[in-house]
Amino acid sequence: MKILLIGGGGREHALAWKIAQSPLLTGLYCAPGNPGTVPLGTNVPLKDTDVEGIVSFAMQENMDLVVVGPEAPLALGLADRLEKAGIACFGPSQEAAQIEASKGYLKDLCQEHDIPTAAYGRFDAAAPAKAFLSTMSAPYVIKADGLAAGKGVVIAEDLAEAESAIDDMLGGRFGAASAELVIEEFLEGEEASFFAITDGTHIVPMVGSQDHKRALDGDKGPNTGGMGAYSPAPVFTPEIQQEVIARIIAPTVKALSDRGSPYCGVLYAGLMIGADGPKLIEYNARFGDPECQVMMRRMQSDILPVLMAAATGKLAGQEFVWTPETVALVVMATQGYPGSYAKGSVIKDIEKAQARDGVEVFHAGTSQTDGQLTASGGRVLNVTAGGATGRIAVDRAYDAVAQIDWPEGFYRRDIGWRMLQRETT
Ligand code: AMP
Ligand code: GLY
Repeated sequence: MKILLIGGGGREHALAWKIAQSPLLTGLYCAPGNPGTVPLGTNVPLKDTDVEGIVSFAMQENMDLVVVGPEAPLALGLADRLEKAGIACFGPSQEAAQIEASKGYLKDLCQEHDIPTAAYGRFDAAAPAKAFLSTMSAPYVIKADGLAAGKGVVIAEDLAEAESAIDDMLGGRFGAASAELVIEEFLEGEEASFFAITDGTHIVPMVGSQDHKRALDGDKGPNTGGMGAYSPAPVFTPEIQQEVIARIIAPTVKALSDRGSPYCGVLYAGLMIGADGPKLIEYNARFGDPECQVMMRRMQSDILPVLMAAATGKLAGQEFVWTPETVALVVMATQGYPGSYAKGSVIKDIEKAQARDGVEVFHAGTSQTDGQLTASGGRVLNVTAGGATGRIAVDRAYDAVAQIDWPEGFYRRDIGWRMLQRETT
């Protein structure tokens, strides 16, 4: 099978690493890929949003399957264009990808199908929104309806802050994306991520994981794309997984099919695990990053048959095999991230980290310039390690991080704290 993988982050390096192990593979192309994917295949200098360029290249090179990592090309209709060109694509159509593009659309779908989620209201005017607030209690959750680069959610501690968030958003803070709002009940509990592969009808579940969204230790500081991850997540028990599949994933897949926009690809459920069971916070139309990297490390079976089956509507009977080992991941980021940061600092000794037991380092924002590896992004390296327990995996990951010579980088020192707390009690 000839595969074209779209994207160039840590998620895509991990997907490339896993795909490259498949005996079915005859050629792997990454557009654009990163320095980590160079030894695994051929990097193609196409931007992930260059839909026409990607379709032409896939046709010219007779790709058997295109695997889409990020959401931007899906939102631009890459899957639809590939389908027209007769090329199999792992990734949802523009319409099915709407599941993450409008929070109000998703909440209505949940209500209609009795999918557990936070109680909510939808508003396009300040007065009714504020009246609804008075029926809720603090903290208040205010969300821009549309995509706002991960910044469209405000958790307000008091009424004044909540009301000003409403005025701000409806006043055009995120343009059309905040012309409508969702106000939600605040959910208590622990967040977890769960991915399921679907062809629009059948479902192949993956395993639960948790990430650390905040930049600093103690889950403090600004939100990031994710500073670390691990799987399994002890809070996400097999019983909870069954409940999530039965009450959240399966009804969503069926509802989207019934609406005439079957979802093909990976459905990423952001969940809150609370006292009264799991509730859906949101969906994404892609693998989470860095959770995907941890999944690829835990997957023992070949990934390609499942990706191909999902893309061609033949997922029935497919499944994954997982190692029971824990895999932990520490993100190394450039100082200043998620704010502004410098580019071009030199990174050395990744191979020393890589040589440690159970360790695999995935590149994200790196560049190869004049024979040197340099940092060119916010999140730069993903250091993963496996072990029989969470403690072993985390210690191995930090031991590997310590081998890497990159003074301009930083990382959190407490990745996995929830898991480790559960392990010792
Ligand atoms: P979202 O973009 O909807 O995933 O929201 C971003 C983050 O805000 C989530 O990852 C949660 O940490 C938090 N969040 C969103 N909705 C709620 C809610 N209803 N209750 C508690 N926290 C929430
Ligand atoms: N790790 C969170 C995300 O991929 O959105």
